[in-house]
Amino acid sequence: MNVLLLGSGGREHAIAWKLSQSKNLGKLFIAPGNPGTAQCGQNVPIGVCDIDKLLDFARQNKVELVVVGPEDPLDAGVVDAFEAAGIKAFGPGGKAAKLESDKAFAKQLMRASCVATAEGRIFDRYSEAKAYIASRDEAVVIKASGLAKGKGVFVCDDPSDGILAAEKIMCDKIFGDAGNVIVVEDKLIGEEASILAFVDGRNIYMMESSQDHKPIGNGDTGPNTGGMGAYSPAPVVTEKLMDQITREIIVPIIDGMNRNDTPYKGVLYAGIMATAGGARVLEFNVRFGDPETQPILMRLKNDLLEVLLAVCDGTLDEVTLKWDSRPAVCVVMASGGYPDDYKKGFKISGLKEAQQLQDVMVFHAGTKEVDGEIVTDGGRVLGVTALGQTVQEAKKRAYEAVDLIKFEGAYCRRDIADKAINRNK
Ligand code: AMP
Ligand code: GLY
Repeated sequence: MNVLLLGSGGREHAIAWKLSQSKNLGKLFIAPGNPGTAQCGQNVPIGVCDIDKLLDFARQNKVELVVVGPEDPLDAGVVDAFEAAGIKAFGPGGKAAKLESDKAFAKQLMRASCVATAEGRIFDRYSEAKAYIASRDEAVVIKASGLAKGKGVFVCDDPSDGILAAEKIMCDKIFGDAGNVIVVEDKLIGEEASILAFVDGRNIYMMESSQDHKPIGNGDTGPNTGGMGAYSPAPVVTEKLMDQITREIIVPIIDGMNRNDTPYKGVLYAGIMATAGGARVLEFNVRFGDPETQPILMRLKNDLLEVLLAVCDGTLDEVTLKWDSRPAVCVVMASGGYPDDYKKGFKISGLKEAQQLQDVMVFHAGTKEVDGEIVTDGGRVLGVTALGQTVQEAKKRAYEAVDLIKFEGAYCRRDIADKAINRNK
């Protein structure tokens, strides 16, 4: 079976790597891909939202399944377009993708479905938002309702900062129309985790837990990024907590989506806060997480193509997920200056040496091939991922590989997985 994968990040390299091991895979195409995905299949220079060109390409190349990595094409209805053309598509349709692309919709549906989340209010007028925030005397979280490349959330310990954030989003339009509506939430206290599940419309299959590291600096300091590293499993998610998350979050939201006439299929990702009172939803994403997918797929033992097809066919109940019991740790190597401005085009050395280490995968994200050499081409450049008997060992191995890789200005956090290590002590 020929497969077309959309995206060009570390997540897509991990998906391409895993799909390339599937026994029924024919050709694997990746649009637009990166030098890492080029080792797993054929990159195709078409943008992820260029739906007409993607459809033409798929028809000409006998593609039978499209797998969507990022949220933008999902929001743009790429799944609906492929299904209308008779091609299977992994991911939710455009209306269901609102669970990520419209935080006000997600909040309303959570409320209607009794899903555990932070108290929140929705505003489409700045004056009303301002009055509400001013009436509060504790920390608030201000969120642009639309897609803002992961930057649309402001956690404000002082309500006066919350008013400024609302003004920037609603009046200055720093995220354009994505900020026409905002959600104002109570701040939750606890440790975060990422919970991913396969959903086929009827059946739900929880994956192993993971944890992202969003802030740029060690000890979770500095501005938020797309994610500076991840590990799986996340010991903060005990069996009891996973059970609560399944019963009180994942099952009711999927039921809610069905009742709302926006049935869900694909990967559902719940960003949760493990609070003293149990798990609460911070956000839903309608896709695999990046970088969580890198350690998760290193641990998944199944044939990924079989699992993705079962999701598309509604036969997830016939699948049994099998996991490597060893933990996996992914350390993101970023360009110096990220998440603010950074330079690109620096030569990367040591990739082969790092890749030769046992149980290590160097997933490419912001890289590019120029005259046969790999150079930096984005903020998050590589996701260096390792398995180990313990999370300590996985961390050690991941950093051994990181230390073999060099490029000018290379930056990574040095404390990825420490929360798990400290919890296990
Ligand atoms: P989101 O994109 O909604 O996941 O938000 C990005 C980050 O903002 C999350 O990973 C949390 O660190 C933080 N955040 C979002 N909502 C809240 C909340 N209600 N309380 C505390 N932190 C939050
Ligand atoms: N790791 C966060 C995300 O994928 O949105």
